[in-house]
Amino acid sequence: MRLVLLGAPGVGKGTQAQRLAQRYQTVRISTGDLLREAVRQQTPLGLEAKRYMDQGTLVPDGVMIGLVREQLSARPGRSGYVLDGFPRTIAQADALGRLLDECREPLDTVVDLEVNEPELVRRLSGRRTCPKCQRVYHVESAPSARGARCEACGATLVQRDDDRPETVKKRLAVYREQTRPLLDYYRERGLLRGIDGLGPVDDVTERIVRQLEAADRQRVGRS
Ligand code: AP5
Repeated sequence: MRLVLLGAPGVGKGTQAQRLAQRYQTVRISTGDLLREAVRQQTPLGLEAKRYMDQGTLVPDGVMIGLVREQLSARPGRSGYVLDGFPRTIAQADALGRLLDECREPLDTVVDLEVNEPELVRRLSGRRTCPKCQRVYHVESAPSARGARCEACGATLVQRDDDRPETVKKRLAVYREQTRPLLDYYRERGLLRGIDGLGPVDDVTERIVRQLEAADRQRVGRS
């Protein structure tokens, strides 16, 4: 499966990408996690990216396209993927299209998760993440059974620097200006499936799965 997850900051892309990757036995490629790991290791990429991430703005397209090209070509046996956080601009979407054309592996589906803005702010302000295994929690709706520690690996959970209220405001504005236009971009290409992202996490997963199955049936019907 070759899937892109789109949606505003905090909509649940990471949460759902992890579940879908597990369900379909494929890999999740999260550009946000890759960048945070580079920041943690203080690599040249991390040092450059941090300046943008701290302000809630996007890392330049050239850097991101190079990073994703590397990830896609490192896939074992050209298996599928769930792309979480990429593309985020029209230039990134064009570059991804060219890359996939070259290896004759077009995208199967683009899922757009939709949640209202007050709920996005609630989700981001209560999010806690595991710095070691990247598992995502929420202090109210998805707390860790081990309190301030990760259920899976025991590491101490942290709040992301860019989840501060003023940075969240900027990230939401950047999403509206630079990423929302991708909805029309993928709608015009017949790839977009809109999903209501409100409600229990399991319900959202099932909605996505139903849409993926419908998209599959449509593809089979066309071939
Ligand atoms: P990135 O890490 O991709 O951040 P984002 O897109 O802003 O998305 P988030 O990770 O904040 O949210 P999410 O949608 O994954 O939600 P989650 O599942 O965690 O990017 C960070 C930065 O890196 C960017 O600002 C940019 O600077 C840079 N960057 C990354 N990619 C880039 C690119 N391609 N180009 C340029 N720059 C790039 O859920 C949020 C919370 O809600 C959690 O607490 C979760 O438990 C909870 N939750 C999830 N689902 C539900 C539900 N159904 N009900 C209740 N709570 C829920």
